[in-house]
Amino acid sequence: MHIFYGKAPLTAYLKSIKTTNSSIGFVPTMGALHQGHLALMKKSLLENDFTVVSIFVNPTQFNNPEDLAKYPRTLDADVEKMTALNPEIILYAPTVDDIYEGETVSKSFDFDGLENQMEGKFRPGHFNGVGTIVKRLFEIVEPTNAYFGEKDFQQLQIVKKMVSKTNLKVNVIGCPIFREANNLAMSSRNERLSTEEREKAAIIFQTLTVAKEKFKTKSAKWVTEWVQKSFENNPLFDLEYFVIADEATLLPCSTKNKNKKYRAFIAIFVNNIRLIDTISLN
Ligand code: PAJ
Repeated sequence: MHIFYGKAPLTAYLKSIKTTNSSIGFVPTMGALHQGHLALMKKSLLENDFTVVSIFVNPTQFNNPEDLAKYPRTLDADVEKMTALNPEIILYAPTVDDIYEGETVSKSFDFDGLENQMEGKFRPGHFNGVGTIVKRLFEIVEPTNAYFGEKDFQQLQIVKKMVSKTNLKVNVIGCPIFREANNLAMSSRNERLSTEEREKAAIIFQTLTVAKEKFKTKSAKWVTEWVQKSFENNPLFDLEYFVIADEATLLPCSTKNKNKKYRAFIAIFVNNIRLIDTISLN
């Protein structure tokens, strides 16, 4: 596998292998790789001449220092997984200094309001951190196509918005959510759950599935209250938000419009570990 820890050797290498027509697929990650990440890489490998993966736990997108400190860092195991998938993958695993050059701060972005909903409300500054790192990585890697999971649907929409507002020439491609056998959305944070918590967390996707069914005949308000009530007496879970929103604007749905696409979003704590999931409703 080709591994680079600095942007200078990475960009020199990419320059040496690229021709005018070659395409570069890019999968940005924070490591602790699971099947969801590998699915993005598989798609990139199929659709591009070269695939670059980045592994970088980006400090500026963590609003909670404890979450940053506890974020799993498993580079050796990640390299093994990627080598098994395809040894031609090009890995960029930079240091904080290589990215931030001594000033570890976010830039401020205007994502036309997408940043003020859901994750933006509950994780202040998070999307400025995401915008800063993704823009920086796009400038370094100069990908043709970049792959993002629908698990972080708000992030996907924000990255698309950032690209449309800048001169970056990259196609941003959304990929379906990869789930565990019990339908819990795969996440690096799942590793921190106990076996029992991980089993019981199946209720998150079960609830989303029932919410989708109910949304066929009930209002967004009704479904939201139903979800809130269903977690109220469950001591293992602490619901942060459940929102039904318009996919394009991410604004909460007040009255249903049959020309709009809606999606349910959930953020929930299981023993202080924050999990998110989402489902398309129509
Ligand atoms: P991370 O959480 O490591 O996720 C990297 C990519 O994998 C994201 O696009 C995410 O949506 C996708 N992903 C995670 N779990 C998935 C699943 N179960 N199914 C499908 N795709 C999944 O998201 C980030 O890192 C960071 O914010 C990043 C974009 C790298 C910027 O720092």
